[in-house]
Amino acid sequence: KWIFYFKLILLLCRRWRLFCSSSSEEEMPQPSVLRHLTAKIKATGPISVAEYMREVLTNPVTGYYVRNNMLGPEGDFITSPEISQIFGELIGVWIVTEWISAGRPKRLQLVELGPGKGSLAEDVLRVLGQLRSVLSHCSVSLHLVEVSPALSGLQALRLTGGSAQENQNHHDPVYRQGLTSTGLPVCWYRSLDDVPEGFSIFVAHEFFDALPIHKFQRTQSGWREMMVDIELENPDKLRFVLSPSPTLASTALVQEGEGRSHVEVCAEGGVIVQQLSRRISEEGGAALIADYGHDGTKTDTFRGFKGHRLHDVLASPGSADLTADVDFSFLRRMAGDGVACLGPITQRVFLKNMGIDTRMQVLLRNCVDASIRKQLINSYDALTNPDRMGERFHFFSLLHLSRLATPPNTTPPEGLTLQKKTPAAPPVAGFTELSFS
Ligand SMILES: C[S@@+](CC[C@H](N)C(=O)[O-])C[C@H]1O[C@@H](n2cnc3c(N)ncnc32)[C@H](O)[C@@H]1O
Repeated sequence: KWIFYFKLILLLCRRWRLFCSSSSEEEMPQPSVLRHLTAKIKATGPISVAEYMREVLTNPVTGYYVRNNMLGPEGDFITSPEISQIFGELIGVWIVTEWISAGRPKRLQLVELGPGKGSLAEDVLRVLGQLRSVLSHCSVSLHLVEVSPALSGLQALRLTGGSAQENQNHHDPVYRQGLTSTGLPVCWYRSLDDVPEGFSIFVAHEFFDALPIHKFQRTQSGWREMMVDIELENPDKLRFVLSPSPTLASTALVQEGEGRSHVEVCAEGGVIVQQLSRRISEEGGAALIADYGHDGTKTDTFRGFKGHRLHDVLASPGSADLTADVDFSFLRRMAGDGVACLGPITQRVFLKNMGIDTRMQVLLRNCVDASIRKQLINSYDALTNPDRMGERFHFFSLLHLSRLATPPNTTPPEGLTLQKKTPAAPPVAGFTELSFS
């Protein structure tokens, strides 16, 4: 039931994307998001929250992500890679340690989902450049999955100095490509299934929280889906309503025995995790997912952000970011048995395990400028303080099963001494406390 529903959703999304991108967007007058949504609701009835979110965020013409550069102090929200370069550098170290633990494969695809302004990728590439001698026999390439032409333009400028070329063949899944300033091939795609197969390390930072969620409410008549409708007295305003009968989504997506009275399910996130899981188990690699979220305990987390403040999710759609906490227990369930899942653990613990304190000490030791020292300390605090991002954000990982394999039983038969012990699988950086000497 799940798989059928997910595939259906994926198919609909793809059709919608192909249909929309074939029209000449520049020549069309740009309807306001609200007008577009109310016309749709008038034509077909109330829409699901997932459809609302998808239209508002990633509609190819009017979508919030498609048109805006919303990241940073001047925008609507700020993310960890934008706060400090240390964040991306530690992710770079994580990628290299996982590549080494996988036996140093000859090819490494770095795949980032939703790269925003490209800051995380830039910091990761700097680390790879510094570790050039370690990676000397490996062919590394960068693959960015991004729906937003505005943001992919910024990423290209940042990572390739503007030398990346847009692909004029609109049927090619690679819509832009070039060489990074460190000489690595980089390609842009709209969807994960366009990224070539092969050993890959996937990174998704604040990506899953931007994917559409369905919302369900327990009622006396059973589970009902929350929908978005037009207000009765004011046709320029939207409101939430409950669907009067079960929908395909409420029947397929609410788990049997669910104990909460309200649940949010990100079916698209489930499909993506299933894809990651299959790729990792068949081709090798790992995925690192970092986001704010919970382990299947929270209920209503759908919210909007505008100018760094909370914003009514239904007010002036398209002018604010929409987001929902990631349910890591759902992602774990969707990953299945083909991979090992680690986490979620808090950002504070992950970064400390990755050695953020040691890195900070080195930076502070080499920094004489008082204002830069202050900035370094403030960004460290923002990333690790439990009251700021330290405990709100979590890290979760999908690993190849061999990665956590316990060594065969090394207890020798009585009276026999083993000459050599089979080494245990190396610890997974970030998820295990490492000692730095
Ligand atoms: C909240 S931003 C995070 C940006 C960046 N990872 C960071 O942490 O700074 C979400 C990113 O995902 C992209 N995005 C959102 N929905 C997407 C989708 N369905 N497919 C691909 N990219 C998507 C957005 O355009 C944006 O780059």
